[in-house]
Amino acid sequence: MFITFEGIDGSGKSTQAKALVSTLQAQGKSCIWTREPGGSEGAETIRKLLVEGDPNRWSAETEILLFNAARRDHLEKTIQPALLRGATVVCDRYVDSTRVYQGIVRADLRELVDLMHGIIIGREADLTFIIDIDPEVALTRGLARNSGEDRFEDMGLDFQKRLRAGFMELAKQNTKRCHVIDGSQTMEEVGRAVLTIYESVAT
Ligand code: TMP
Repeated sequence: MFITFEGIDGSGKSTQAKALVSTLQAQGKSCIWTREPGGSEGAETIRKLLVEGDPNRWSAETEILLFNAARRDHLEKTIQPALLRGATVVCDRYVDSTRVYQGIVRADLRELVDLMHGIIIGREADLTFIIDIDPEVALTRGLARNSGEDRFEDMGLDFQKRLRAGFMELAKQNTKRCHVIDGSQTMEEVGRAVLTIYESVAT
């Protein structure tokens, strides 16, 4: 099973993705955690180009090419091999981030994103959790990390608000695959909500 976590910056999705992996591993299941952009040696190299530096460093079109290059390498080297050996793959961000960040908010390029995904990647997640949170809260959390990987966070609060709306729209279009979880709850509550949905889908 291929599971993805999505949401705006600072939504807490990374913590939740890792928590799900720990829970499944503790149950004796073969399960890996991975992330995008990144998740393979080549894709981690491309990640640096995308998440560091000036917000105006790349156009949305160039970003789409870079995210797809990273994703293709990640799919070939990490995701596909794990799925083929029967492991569950839990991925922190995937193509829904490209659909919303580059396809809706950075520019009106949703068709291009879907077209490229169909040609170059061709793999959709089986189950997607969208952790929804107020952007003002999330932005504070995100910037507090001060990781040097803040290129998209530096695009500002209005950008994050539009991302949130974009993810909600995407969830409406994909009700079977996408599950929206209230990220303002405690970490434990969000974790329980994730697990309940996972169990209802996986069994
Ligand atoms: P992260 O902080 O969740 O690791 O993600 C890095 C940044 O990259 C985050 O701000 C979202 C952005 N991003 C996109 O804009 N498009 C994409 O396709 C992906 C995977 C991430």
